Amino acid sequence: MRTTASLAAPLLLAASVHALPELSISKRDAKLATSNVARGLVRRAGTVTTNVYDILTYSTGGAYYANVTVGTPPQDQVVILDTGSSDLYFDASTAAACESTGPYSCRGGIFTPKDSSTYTVVDASPAFNTSFGDGSTAVGPFAEDIVGIGNVRIDNVQFGVAQDVNSTTGYAIGLMGLGYSENEATQHIYPNMPEVLRDTGVINSRLYSVYLNDVGEISGTILFGGIDTSKYTGELATLDILPDYITSEVDQFITTVTSLSATVNGATTSLFSGGTNSILAYGNSDEALPVLLDTGSSAWSVPTDYYNQLIAPLFTYVDQEGLCSCSHQDDDSSMTLTFGAKINITVPAREFIVPIYNSTTDDPITYTDGTQACAFMIVAAEPTGEGFQTLGDAMLRSMYVVFDLDNGQLSIAQAAVNSTDAPSIVTIPAGTSGIASAISTSYSGAATNTWSIAAEVQNATASFSVSTAQSTIGEATGTAAVPADAQISSGGETASSSGSGSSSTSSKGAAAGLVVPGMDWSGVWVTGTAVMMATLGAGLMM
Ligand SMILES: *[C@@H]1O[C@H](CO)[C@@H](O)[C@H](O)[C@H]1NC(C)=O
Ligand SMILES: *[C@@H]1O[C@H](CO)[C@@H](O)[C@H](O)[C@H]1NC(C)=O
Ligand SMILES: *[C@@H]1O[C@H](CO)[C@@H](O)[C@H](O)[C@H]1NC(C)=O
Ligand SMILES: *[C@@H]1O[C@H](CO)[C@@H](O)[C@H](O)[C@H]1NC(C)=O
Ligand SMILES: *[C@@H]1O[C@H](CO)[C@@H](O)[C@H](O)[C@H]1NC(C)=O
Ligand SMILES: *[C@@H]1O[C@H](CO)[C@@H](O)[C@H](O)[C@H]1NC(C)=O
Ligand SMILES: *[C@@H]1O[C@H](CO)[C@@H](O)[C@H](O)[C@H]1NC(C)=O
Repeated sequence: MRTTASLAAPLLLAASVHALPELSISKRDAKLATSNVARGLVRRAGTVTTNVYDILTYSTGGAYYANVTVGTPPQDQVVILDTGSSDLYFDASTAAACESTGPYSCRGGIFTPKDSSTYTVVDASPAFNTSFGDGSTAVGPFAEDIVGIGNVRIDNVQFGVAQDVNSTTGYAIGLMGLGYSENEATQHIYPNMPEVLRDTGVINSRLYSVYLNDVGEISGTILFGGIDTSKYTGELATLDILPDYITSEVDQFITTVTSLSATVNGATTSLFSGGTNSILAYGNSDEALPVLLDTGSSAWSVPTDYYNQLIAPLFTYVDQEGLCSCSHQDDDSSMTLTFGAKINITVPAREFIVPIYNSTTDDPITYTDGTQACAFMIVAAEPTGEGFQTLGDAMLRSMYVVFDLDNGQLSIAQAAVNSTDAPSIVTIPAGTSGIASAISTSYSGAATNTWSIAAEVQNATASFSVSTAQSTIGEATGTAAVPADAQISSGGETASSSGSGSSSTSSKGAAAGLVVPGMDWSGVWVTGTAVMMATLGAGLMM
């Protein structure tokens, strides 16, 4: 959303001709790891690789994170990966929020500009001034410095420095927005990470593929510049991105859910069908729901009337607060969403019914029936003024999504969750037939998007240079990818014990669990999530 971030997405990087940067994503809770297969790192000659992980206590309900560095010498930072916003920013060491200690401080690290010899301010505070869907704000200057991601270091990368951070989640964390640069929180559009990676030749076009993986898996990936054919089943379906309702141009990752069915305890019900993949979806005459594919959101927000009339009657065990017993994770239940009238994605209950924790104690929250409490991650909310709602990690975990900014398209397939196959990375060339030319099997091909695509910065190439990092940033596998202080420990288990017996405890440590902060943030949440939030203070970034 314009000047609005939602949170979290898993990302891989892929480089161009010689290299695709690939990041693996690990899940929030190391205890959740249910296999010994190390997924944290995928190495290929000439590729850029680092970990991306998803951890509970850094998150407002499940965000996906990557390690990057900034400055000379490099300062480590953890950033949320967000397809719903467009700026990279770090929290400044001088931010008041970062000076406080405790569980709500700057969890992703702090950036100290004066300790970097290569730091320059390009636009003084408050040039960077952003607000997010959950009410969080960040204000400061725009600066340039060397940013490291995977095994590349790129100089003169512009980013915001959040000197004044107000986080509704209680703690602050930096963020990497992966949307169109036109939606940056500034009038002076600059090349953001997808553009910088393209401009430096690390990747051929502004394209990346996101694989969040199963809720219980420790890692997923984001691959810049390519696709990994081992991480989905069936074929990719390419959809033109829906233009923005207000600007009439493609500038956010909006598509349509044209049909929806639910299976509850084995019985399947069609909830709606026949929606069209067009801007008619913005109107009341078409049942299709315009959705923003947003790794920065943990839930799927649906209109209140859809929720009340279609969803709630089927999932009768979900209470007024949007909670239920985690026992329902294991039901023979799922949702099947049709995107763009072209591709069906089935999402098992375990991906959208996720455990919640007390962020003060890290203990699981007990439900009224004595079992562990879970949050139902399909929530009622009113659409924004821009006519769409966010479809977040709860659904994205079951999807493999190629975000193709250059062509204004999204390519979607059913994710091959828990995949143990060796990565099969295909570099995508630039141009309208990029994906089609990279896929040898039958592929329906990309339609040419007839909508105009948001303008980008045209001539910034000269100011960048890219070099190989001395050591790959964030390189680790499995639990090692997750910062120790971000790992949930409960019931005496430790993160390092995840290799054995963890499947029996997966409901305790589910990667998608929400942290329930020990504070009341009532009033800050959007409609729908407000109910649960007001009660528990659980954070969901929208
Ligand atoms: C993935 O693994 C988890 C256990 O970690 C299991 O519960 C789930 O059913 C698996 N999903 C698939 C599609 O195999
Ligand atoms: C940031 O932007 C908001 C919204 O435009 C504005 O109200 C606020 O005053 C700005 N903050 C600063 C420090 O300029
Ligand atoms: C953050 O909150 C403080 C205290 O309420 C306020 O003084 C400051 O202006 C806020 N900053 C922003 C960017 O909203
Ligand atoms: C999606 O599922 C519906 C309902 O089962 C089916 O009619 C339709 O053919 C499927 N579409 C695709 C593209 O598989
Ligand atoms: C979380 O734990 C703290 C400390 O025990 C407690 O005061 C608080 O009520 C708990 N919150 C919830 C939602 O259980
Ligand atoms: C290139 O960038 C410079 C500096 O930002 C700007 O003045 C110039 O207008 C740009 N040229 C084009 C063709 O965009
Ligand atoms: C990511 O950064 C955190 C905090 O600096 C660190 O604890 C963790 O080990 C890092 N992960 C990797 C994979 O480097």
